[in-house]
Amino acid sequence: MLIQLPDVLVADEVRHARQLLATASWADGRPGAGSQAIQVKNNEQLAHTDPVAQAVREMVLRGLDRNPLFLTAALPKRIFPPRMNRYSGASNFYGDHVDGSVRFTPESGQRVRTDLSCTVFLTDPKDYEGGELVIQESGASRAFKLPAGHAILYPATHVHQVTPVTRGERVACFFWVESMVRSAEQRQLLFDLDMAVMRLRRNHGDDADTVSLTGTYHNLLRMWGDT
Ligand code: NI
Repeated sequence: MLIQLPDVLVADEVRHARQLLATASWADGRPGAGSQAIQVKNNEQLAHTDPVAQAVREMVLRGLDRNPLFLTAALPKRIFPPRMNRYSGASNFYGDHVDGSVRFTPESGQRVRTDLSCTVFLTDPKDYEGGELVIQESGASRAFKLPAGHAILYPATHVHQVTPVTRGERVACFFWVESMVRSAEQRQLLFDLDMAVMRLRRNHGDDADTVSLTGTYHNLLRMWGDT
Protein backbone atom coordinates (compact mmCIF):
# COMPACT_ATOMS: atom_id res chain seq x y z
CA MET A 1 0.00 0.00 0.00
CA LEU A 2 1.55 3.26 -1.18
CA ILE A 3 -0.42 6.21 0.16
CA GLN A 4 0.02 9.85 -0.73
CA LEU A 5 -0.69 12.21 2.14
CA PRO A 6 -1.54 15.72 0.90
CA ASP A 7 -0.68 18.76 3.02
CA VAL A 8 1.10 17.21 5.97
CA LEU A 9 2.59 20.69 6.16
CA VAL A 10 0.76 23.77 4.89
CA ALA A 11 2.48 26.37 2.68
CA ASP A 12 3.51 28.63 5.58
CA GLU A 13 5.08 25.72 7.45
CA VAL A 14 6.97 24.57 4.35
CA ARG A 15 8.32 28.09 3.87
CA HIS A 16 9.40 28.29 7.50
CA ALA A 17 11.00 24.84 7.39
CA ARG A 18 12.92 25.72 4.21
CA GLN A 19 14.19 28.98 5.76
CA LEU A 20 15.45 27.08 8.80
CA LEU A 21 17.00 24.29 6.74
CA ALA A 22 18.83 26.78 4.49
CA THR A 23 20.95 27.81 7.49
CA ALA A 24 21.56 24.30 8.86
CA SER A 25 24.85 22.41 9.14
CA TRP A 26 24.46 19.52 6.71
CA ALA A 27 26.79 16.55 7.03
CA ASP A 28 27.58 13.37 5.11
CA GLY A 29 24.54 11.09 5.41
CA ARG A 30 26.50 7.83 5.36
CA PRO A 31 27.36 7.38 9.05
CA GLY A 32 24.55 5.39 10.63
CA ALA A 33 23.44 3.66 7.43
CA GLY A 34 23.47 -0.14 7.38
CA SER A 35 26.20 -2.09 5.59
CA GLN A 36 24.15 -2.62 2.40
CA ALA A 37 22.69 0.89 2.28
CA ILE A 38 26.02 2.62 2.93
CA GLN A 39 27.42 1.34 -0.38
CA VAL A 40 24.77 3.16 -2.41
CA LYS A 41 24.07 6.17 -0.18
CA ASN A 42 25.33 9.58 -1.23
CA ASN A 43 23.37 12.39 0.41
CA GLU A 44 23.52 14.73 3.38
CA GLN A 45 21.64 14.71 6.67
CA LEU A 46 21.29 16.80 9.80
CA ALA A 47 22.41 15.48 13.17
CA HIS A 48 19.59 14.33 15.44
CA THR A 49 20.55 16.99 17.95
CA ASP A 50 20.74 19.87 15.47
CA PRO A 51 18.35 22.64 16.64
CA VAL A 52 17.04 23.16 13.10
CA ALA A 53 16.33 19.43 12.77
CA GLN A 54 14.52 19.53 16.11
CA ALA A 55 12.34 22.49 15.09
CA VAL A 56 11.33 20.96 11.75
CA ARG A 57 10.80 17.56 13.41
CA GLU A 58 8.30 19.12 15.84
CA MET A 59 6.52 20.83 12.95
CA VAL A 60 6.21 17.53 11.04
CA LEU A 61 5.02 15.62 14.11
CA ARG A 62 2.29 18.25 14.66
CA GLY A 63 1.33 17.94 10.99
CA LEU A 64 1.05 14.15 11.28
CA ASP A 65 -1.04 14.43 14.41
CA ARG A 66 -3.72 16.44 12.62
CA ASN A 67 -3.66 14.30 9.46
CA PRO A 68 -6.52 11.73 9.62
CA LEU A 69 -5.29 9.85 6.54
CA PHE A 70 -1.88 9.27 8.13
CA LEU A 71 -3.46 8.09 11.38
CA THR A 72 -5.84 5.61 9.74
CA ALA A 73 -3.26 4.29 7.25
CA ALA A 74 -0.37 3.93 9.68
CA LEU A 75 -2.16 3.26 12.99
CA PRO A 76 1.05 4.52 14.62
CA LYS A 77 2.33 3.07 17.84
CA ARG A 78 5.77 4.67 17.72
CA ILE A 79 7.29 7.16 15.32
CA PHE A 80 11.03 7.30 14.87
CA PRO A 81 11.94 10.99 15.33
CA PRO A 82 11.78 12.50 11.82
CA ARG A 83 15.12 13.31 10.21
CA MET A 84 16.08 15.62 7.37
CA ASN A 85 18.10 14.92 4.24
CA ARG A 86 19.37 16.89 1.29
CA TYR A 87 20.35 15.85 -2.22
CA SER A 88 22.37 18.39 -4.19
CA GLY A 89 25.77 19.00 -5.82
CA ALA A 90 27.99 15.94 -5.60
CA SER A 91 25.87 14.33 -2.82
CA ASN A 92 22.83 13.69 -4.93
CA PHE A 93 21.47 10.14 -4.90
CA TYR A 94 20.62 7.09 -2.82
CA GLY A 95 20.63 3.85 -4.82
CA ASP A 96 18.41 0.81 -4.33
CA HIS A 97 18.27 -0.28 -0.69
CA VAL A 98 15.98 -1.49 2.05
CA ASP A 99 15.63 0.38 5.32
CA GLY A 100 16.86 -1.39 8.45
CA SER A 101 14.13 -3.33 10.26
CA VAL A 102 14.77 -1.93 13.72
CA ARG A 103 15.94 1.59 14.55
CA PHE A 104 17.32 2.67 17.89
CA THR A 105 16.11 6.06 19.14
CA PRO A 106 18.98 7.71 21.02
CA GLU A 107 16.74 10.26 22.79
CA SER A 108 14.38 7.77 24.38
CA GLY A 109 16.50 4.63 24.30
CA GLN A 110 13.55 2.97 22.56
CA ARG A 111 13.63 0.63 19.60
CA VAL A 112 11.24 1.24 16.72
CA ARG A 113 10.32 -1.61 14.36
CA THR A 114 10.09 -0.05 10.92
CA ASP A 115 6.76 -1.23 9.49
CA LEU A 116 6.27 1.87 7.34
CA SER A 117 8.58 4.44 5.79
CA CYS A 118 7.50 8.00 5.12
CA THR A 119 9.02 10.86 3.15
CA VAL A 120 7.68 14.41 3.46
CA PHE A 121 8.80 16.44 0.44
CA LEU A 122 9.96 19.96 1.39
CA THR A 123 11.10 21.27 -2.00
CA ASP A 124 8.79 22.19 -4.82
CA PRO A 125 9.28 19.76 -7.77
CA LYS A 126 9.98 22.58 -10.22
CA ASP A 127 13.01 23.66 -8.18
CA TYR A 128 15.02 20.49 -8.89
CA GLU A 129 15.64 17.97 -11.64
CA GLY A 130 15.67 14.24 -10.83
CA GLY A 131 15.30 13.24 -7.18
CA GLU A 132 12.34 10.90 -7.67
CA LEU A 133 11.64 8.45 -4.88
CA VAL A 134 11.29 5.15 -6.77
CA ILE A 135 9.61 2.33 -4.87
CA GLN A 136 9.43 -1.28 -6.03
CA GLU A 137 6.20 -3.11 -5.35
CA SER A 138 5.36 -6.58 -6.65
CA GLY A 139 7.90 -6.33 -9.45
CA ALA A 140 6.81 -2.87 -10.61
CA SER A 141 8.48 0.47 -9.92
CA ARG A 142 6.60 3.62 -9.09
CA ALA A 143 8.22 7.06 -8.96
CA PHE A 144 7.11 9.87 -6.66
CA LYS A 145 8.01 13.53 -6.75
CA LEU A 146 5.33 15.25 -4.73
CA PRO A 147 4.55 18.92 -4.06
CA ALA A 148 6.28 20.45 -1.03
CA GLY A 149 4.37 19.59 2.15
CA HIS A 150 2.99 16.33 0.74
CA ALA A 151 4.19 12.91 1.88
CA ILE A 152 4.34 9.33 0.68
CA LEU A 153 3.78 6.48 3.13
CA TYR A 154 4.98 3.04 2.01
CA PRO A 155 5.89 -0.36 3.44
CA ALA A 156 9.43 -0.32 4.85
CA THR A 157 9.85 -3.79 3.36
CA HIS A 158 10.07 -2.35 -0.17
CA VAL A 159 13.33 -1.76 -2.06
CA HIS A 160 13.54 1.92 -2.97
CA GLN A 161 15.93 4.61 -4.20
CA VAL A 162 16.24 8.34 -4.76
CA THR A 163 17.41 9.08 -8.30
CA PRO A 164 20.26 11.58 -8.84
CA VAL A 165 19.39 15.25 -8.44
CA THR A 166 20.98 16.93 -11.45
CA ARG A 167 19.78 20.50 -10.85
CA GLY A 168 18.87 22.43 -7.71
CA GLU A 169 18.51 20.73 -4.33
CA ARG A 170 15.95 18.36 -2.88
CA VAL A 171 15.29 18.66 0.84
CA ALA A 172 13.01 16.19 2.58
CA CYS A 173 12.02 14.86 5.95
CA PHE A 174 11.87 11.11 6.49
CA PHE A 175 10.90 8.78 9.31
CA TRP A 176 9.63 5.33 10.15
CA VAL A 177 6.52 4.12 11.90
CA GLU A 178 5.98 1.10 14.10
CA SER A 179 2.30 0.35 13.64
CA MET A 180 -0.11 -0.94 16.28
CA VAL A 181 -0.98 -3.54 13.63
CA ARG A 182 2.14 -5.39 12.57
CA SER A 183 0.60 -7.33 9.68
CA ALA A 184 0.43 -5.31 6.44
CA GLU A 185 -2.53 -7.46 5.33
CA GLN A 186 -4.52 -6.72 8.48
CA ARG A 187 -3.57 -3.03 8.32
CA GLN A 188 -4.81 -2.86 4.73
CA LEU A 189 -8.16 -4.48 5.70
CA LEU A 190 -8.60 -2.00 8.54
CA PHE A 191 -7.73 0.91 6.27
CA ASP A 192 -10.24 -0.19 3.60
CA LEU A 193 -12.95 -0.74 6.22
CA ASP A 194 -12.29 2.60 7.93
CA MET A 195 -12.43 4.47 4.61
CA ALA A 196 -15.68 2.71 3.65
CA VAL A 197 -17.26 3.50 7.04
CA MET A 198 -16.26 7.16 6.65
CA ARG A 199 -17.91 7.28 3.21
CA LEU A 200 -21.07 5.63 4.60
CA ARG A 201 -21.18 8.15 7.44
CA ARG A 202 -20.75 11.04 5.01
CA ASN A 203 -23.48 9.78 2.68
CA HIS A 204 -26.00 8.36 5.14
CA GLY A 205 -25.15 9.78 8.56
CA ASP A 206 -24.76 7.57 11.60
CA ASP A 207 -27.51 5.07 10.85
CA ALA A 208 -27.69 1.75 12.69
CA ASP A 209 -25.65 -0.13 10.06
CA THR A 210 -22.87 2.46 10.11
CA VAL A 211 -22.72 2.25 13.89
CA SER A 212 -22.57 -1.55 13.64
CA LEU A 213 -19.73 -1.47 11.08
CA THR A 214 -17.86 1.12 13.19
CA GLY A 215 -18.09 -1.38 16.02
CA THR A 216 -16.69 -4.11 13.79
CA TYR A 217 -13.76 -1.85 12.85
CA HIS A 218 -12.93 -1.22 16.49
CA ASN A 219 -13.35 -4.87 17.43
CA LEU A 220 -10.88 -5.88 14.71
CA LEU A 221 -8.45 -3.18 15.84
CA ARG A 222 -8.86 -4.42 19.41
CA MET A 223 -8.12 -7.97 18.27
CA TRP A 224 -5.13 -7.14 16.05
CA GLY A 225 -3.79 -3.97 17.63
CA ASP A 226 -0.91 -3.87 20.06
CA THR A 227 -0.66 -0.71 22.12
NI1 NI B 1 15.46 4.35 2.56
